[in-house]
Amino acid sequence: MQYGHFDNEHREYVIDRVDVPVSWTNYIGTKDMYGVFNHTAGGYLIYKSSEYHRITRFRPNGVPMDGPGHYVYLRDEDTGDYWTISWQPVGKPKEYFSCRHGLGYVKYLSTYGGIDASETLFVAMDDPVEIWDVALKNMSDRPRRLSVYSYAEFSFHHVAMDNQNFQMSLYAAGSRYEDGIIEYDLHYEEDGYQFFTADFHPDGFDCLRDTFIGGYHTERNPETVESGRCKGSFENGGNHCACLQKLVILTPGEEKRFLFLLGEGGLAAGRTMRSKYTAEKVDEDFRRLHDFWDRKLSALQIQTPNPAMDTEINIWNLYQSEINVMFSRFTSFIEVGGRVGLGYRDTAQDAMTAVHSNPEKCRSRMVELLRALTQEGYGLHLFEPRWFEPEKSSQSFRSPTVIPTPDKSEIVHGIKDACADDALWLVSAVVQYVKETGDLGFVDETVTYADGGQGTVYEHLTRILDFSARQVGKNGICKGLRADWNDCLNLGGGESAMVSFLHLWALNGFTALARRLGRTSDADRYEALAAQVKETASRVLWDGKWFIRGITADGRKIGTQQDAEGRVHMESNTWAVISGAADEKQGKSAMDSVDEYLFTPYGLMLNAPCFTQPDDAIGFVTRVYPGLKENGAIFSHPNPWAWVAEAMLGRGDRAMKFYDALCPAGQNDRIEIRQSEPYAYCQFVVGKDHPAFGRAHHPFMTGSSGWAYFAATQYILGIRPDFDGLVVDPCIPAEWRAFSAVRRWRGATYRIRVENPDGVQKGVKEMRMNGHPCQKLPPLVAGSVAEVLVIMGHKEA
Ligand code: GLC
Repeated sequence: MQYGHFDNEHREYVIDRVDVPVSWTNYIGTKDMYGVFNHTAGGYLIYKSSEYHRITRFRPNGVPMDGPGHYVYLRDEDTGDYWTISWQPVGKPKEYFSCRHGLGYVKYLSTYGGIDASETLFVAMDDPVEIWDVALKNMSDRPRRLSVYSYAEFSFHHVAMDNQNFQMSLYAAGSRYEDGIIEYDLHYEEDGYQFFTADFHPDGFDCLRDTFIGGYHTERNPETVESGRCKGSFENGGNHCACLQKLVILTPGEEKRFLFLLGEGGLAAGRTMRSKYTAEKVDEDFRRLHDFWDRKLSALQIQTPNPAMDTEINIWNLYQSEINVMFSRFTSFIEVGGRVGLGYRDTAQDAMTAVHSNPEKCRSRMVELLRALTQEGYGLHLFEPRWFEPEKSSQSFRSPTVIPTPDKSEIVHGIKDACADDALWLVSAVVQYVKETGDLGFVDETVTYADGGQGTVYEHLTRILDFSARQVGKNGICKGLRADWNDCLNLGGGESAMVSFLHLWALNGFTALARRLGRTSDADRYEALAAQVKETASRVLWDGKWFIRGITADGRKIGTQQDAEGRVHMESNTWAVISGAADEKQGKSAMDSVDEYLFTPYGLMLNAPCFTQPDDAIGFVTRVYPGLKENGAIFSHPNPWAWVAEAMLGRGDRAMKFYDALCPAGQNDRIEIRQSEPYAYCQFVVGKDHPAFGRAHHPFMTGSSGWAYFAATQYILGIRPDFDGLVVDPCIPAEWRAFSAVRRWRGATYRIRVENPDGVQKGVKEMRMNGHPCQKLPPLVAGSVAEVLVIMGHKEA
C-alpha cells in the first residue's frame, strides 16, 4: 500500500494520503537553527543545542504522537468553521490535505472549504529565523472572510527544565507584545529571548498557551480559534505561545500571502528581521536553500538501471547523511534532545561518509572527535564538543537547578567505560578525508587531548591504533570492553572479532597514509602490526564455514556452527572480508552463510537465530526481545557492510540483492508493512522472529544512511577517491549493461560512463580519460571537466 510518491524533479516526497501509520518526519535548517517536523506540522525548533536551547516544545512519546507543532489555523468568519492547513491538529477529512517533504523545507497544502492554502516551513540562510510562508486563494465564487491564526508553543530552553522541576520553570519564562511582535524570554539567560512576528499588522494576539487553548480544550479545538476572539494575553510566568491573528477578505479567485517569522532575539531583533525578510527576500532565501542542496547533491549524480537506487543516491540518501553530519543524532521524535553532545563512533562514521559534499563540516567534526580522545588512545563515548574547545564559548544557561558543565573528572571516564571500537572509526575517517580533499597538511595540525596535553592529528591516530594493540585478550583478539559497535554486546575482557577486524582495517588505511607521507618507518611498523593482527584473527576466529563473533571472558566462543542461538553474525563476517583478513575462499563461504542465515526480503538480520537465553557474559543482546533491535532485527547500519564485502568479493548480483532489500525507496508500496517513511533509512526493521516482521523504526538519525551511501557509491558503483587519483572499479549486477555518473573531485568534474558489454559483475578492461588510457583518474585543475569511459570485462591474459 502506498501513501505518497517521489517527485524527483522537485526533489520532494509527496504524501497524498496524510493518515500515514506513524509520523513521517523531515528537517529544516542548514546551520545553527534547525528543527524536525512531520507531515502534520508537528515538531520542534532548536538553536545550536537540542539539550540547552530548545525554542518550541515537543511532548515526546505522547498522544497524539506528534505534537505540538507550528500550526496555521484558518477560520471562516461567516460560518465559524475552522481547520489547520497541515490537516492536524484540527483533523478535517484527510482528502483535502497533502504534504511535500523537500530538502530543508516542508510544505503543507489544503484545499478545504473552497480555500486553497499552503504553509511552507524553512529557515533563513543567514539568520536564526524560521519562516512560515503562508498563501491562501479563494477558489469559491463568493467573497470570503477568513481569520488566519499562527500557533506555536514555546519551550523552556533546557530540556531538563522543560520536563521536570516545574516549581522553578513555570515561573522563569515570560511574554509580552509590542508593535506586532511577541517577545518570549527566559531572562536569566544571556541569549534567552525569542521573537515571533509577521509581515502584517495583526488584528489580535495571544502569548499565553492556556488562554489560547482554553480549559478542557486541546490544539484540536483551541478556545481562541473556536470563539474567533484573541484575548491579548501575556504574562511573566507560565507557558507561552505565539499566536498572531489576521482578518482577511478574499474576493473570488483572489490570493494573499502572509509571512510569519520566529527567531532568536527580542523585540529589537524582531523589528530588524521583519524589515529584512520581505516577500522578495524570502523568495531569494528559498532559492538559496535549493542551491545549497543542489551544490551538495551535484558532487555526485548517477544514472543506473535501478531507479530506486538513483532516487536514493541522487537525493534522499545523501540528504539524510548530511542531516546526521550537520545536526548530529539527538534531534528527532525518538531522540528528543536529552542526551549530551556527540556520540563518538556514530559521529566518526557519519563524518567519513559525506566528505565529498561537506568537507568543512566533516573536518570540524573530526577535530571535535580528536579533542575528545584521551592520551591513552580511547575516545569518550558521549561528549559535548564545547568542553574541549580551545576558546570555551560560554554556555549562557544559568539556572541554579541544572549544572551545565561537569567537572573534568566526570567527563573523562576510565577505561571501564570505554567502547572498544569508538576511536578506530576515526582513523578511517581521517584517511578518507585526506583521500577526498588531498589535504595532507591536516595530519600535522596540533590538537589537544581530552585529558590534557596535545599532539598532531597523526599522533592521535597512532595512539588509537596502539590502544587497540594493547587491549587484547587471552587469545590475542581485541577486547570487547563496554561494547564494540554493537551496544548490546558487552564482552568486557572477552574478545571481539569485529574490533580486531576494524583494527586491521584502520591499520591498513593508516599504513597507506604514512607511506603517502613518506614516513616509511611508521608505515613499516604498522604494516608489521597489521600482518600480526591478520594472522591472529584468521587463525583464532575462523570456524570452518564462517567467522565467530567473539569469545566471552570465560572462554566460550560466540557464533559457532554448534550454537543453537546467535549462530551467524553480520559484524564479524562482513568485517572479516572488508578488513582483508579473510582469504577469498573464507570470504565467500562467510558471506554465503550471511545470505543463507540472515537474508530476508527487508534486508539482512544482524544475527540468527535470535538469543532467547539471557547470558551476561555475551551481553544485553541476550535480554532483548527476539527480532527487535540488536537481537536479530534487520539492523540497517551493518547491511551496507555486506554490500561492501560482496563488492570486494566481486559478486555484484548479491550486493545488489542485499541493497534492494533494504532500500527505503523500493518499499514505497509496502507501507502497510514498513510503516515508516520510504525516503529515509531507519535504524532497524523488525526481524523474522517477531510478529511485526518488516516494520521499520527510528528514521533519519542513524548511521545506516552514511554507510548506505558510502557502500553504494564507493563499492557497488566503485567510484572512490585515493590519495593520488579517483578509482573507478564497479561491482554491479551482470545484467547492467551501462551506468553513468558525474562526480566532483578536488574541484574538477568527471563525467563517467561505464559500459559492461560482456555482462560481468566486476573487472575493468579499459579506462580512458579524454581519450587517453589510464589506471586511475588523476586530479585535475579546478574547474576542468573530464570525459571518462570505463569498459568492464575480463582483461586479456
Ligand atoms: C545505535 C547506536 C550506535 C550503535 C548501534 C548498534 O544505532 O547509536 O552507536 O553502533 O546502535 O548497537
